[in-house]
Amino acid sequence: MADRLRIGLIGAGGIANGAHIPGYKAVASEVELVACADVHRETAERTAREHGMPGVYTDYQEMLRHERLDAVSVCTPNKFHAPAVIAALSAGCHVLCEKPPAITADEARAMEAAAQAAGKILTFGFMYRFNPEVAAAKRFADAGAFGDIYTGRVTATRRRGIPSWGVFTNRELQGGGPLIDIGVHMLDAALYVMGYPEPVCVTGVTHTKLGDKEPGVAPWGPWNYREYSVEDVCNALIRFENGAALILESSFIANIEPMEELNVRLAGTKAGVKFFPFTVYREEHGTLVNETAAWQPGATAYHREVAHFVRAVRGEASPISTPAEAVKIQRIIEAIYKSAATGRSVEA
Ligand SMILES: NC(=O)c1ccc[n+]([C@@H]2O[C@H](COP(=O)([O-])OP(=O)(O)OC[C@H]3O[C@@H](n4cnc5c(N)ncnc54)[C@H](O)[C@@H]3O)[C@@H](O)[C@H]2O)c1
Repeated sequence: MADRLRIGLIGAGGIANGAHIPGYKAVASEVELVACADVHRETAERTAREHGMPGVYTDYQEMLRHERLDAVSVCTPNKFHAPAVIAALSAGCHVLCEKPPAITADEARAMEAAAQAAGKILTFGFMYRFNPEVAAAKRFADAGAFGDIYTGRVTATRRRGIPSWGVFTNRELQGGGPLIDIGVHMLDAALYVMGYPEPVCVTGVTHTKLGDKEPGVAPWGPWNYREYSVEDVCNALIRFENGAALILESSFIANIEPMEELNVRLAGTKAGVKFFPFTVYREEHGTLVNETAAWQPGATAYHREVAHFVRAVRGEASPISTPAEAVKIQRIIEAIYKSAATGRSVEA
């Protein structure tokens, strides 16, 4: 392995430029940004120029053949995660893939098999795990402070938050709307703290009532309602083998308040926790008490995520999210959409 890791990017759009590249630059003594590939030549050229990357490609296979990369970030729309990840692993690269890992559970299984066959790291952009609040909840949970966690609420709701950019409203390219885009972040954070219990069965309901109509109030800009093909709202009940259950609510647009809420609430036999702001609920000496953190470290979760990936590639840390967890979360998401489509509960 080269002194500095040779890094490439597949997909050079918003998250590549906004999170991955700044994350790699923050550990510049460890890595060298070598090349990027984007199907839009202009996007690839602009990104390469702005960040001093000598390699510019419109075909990631060509980049993988020519650049002798140590590691790759996959930052394409969701539909292309699995083929790009599998190609990068097969080319001998370690991979940090954006969330969601994939669209289907079978894709996630194929990615897991490819990582095993290549003997390389495959980890995912679940950067909320690097938020101090989520990390604190995980430490409390691992120390047994909550007892057995058996119930919880996963919230990723926006009142008027349909992205007017990118392909977030395109089911074909993204696999769905708020559930797979933002619900997946909070669901992963909840499962991480719970120790990723085995899912058994889900009931899901989706609605598209407003997103496919001409926009009224649009704080994030007017979206293309004519091509809006995802759900506005997705609610679900997820049951686990250990008896626990989670209620999930997610929305891009709904007549609700607050304007936006990304949060997780978990309750166990000894105590409960809300992630944001970090609050522990307990009964002590005959009193119901709420404890909050007096101080939490700052730092961008994205930077921590990339720095941790680099340490993992160097063998100095274990990847924080794994292909096996990716398969579990994709099983849940696929089953929720299937349940919503069929009107029945579905095995995960
Ligand atoms: N972790 C987070 O908070 C977060 C935030 C935003 C997006 N994301 C994820 O990042 C991914 C990309 O989102 P984005 O906002 O950067 O989208 P984007 O549309 O800004 O960028 C995607 C880029 O991929 C390119 N692309 C498409 N197909 C390709 C292919 N086959 N090969 C190479 N390049 C290809 C597009 O031309 C585009 O430039 C999505 O999976 C999304 O869910 C994560």
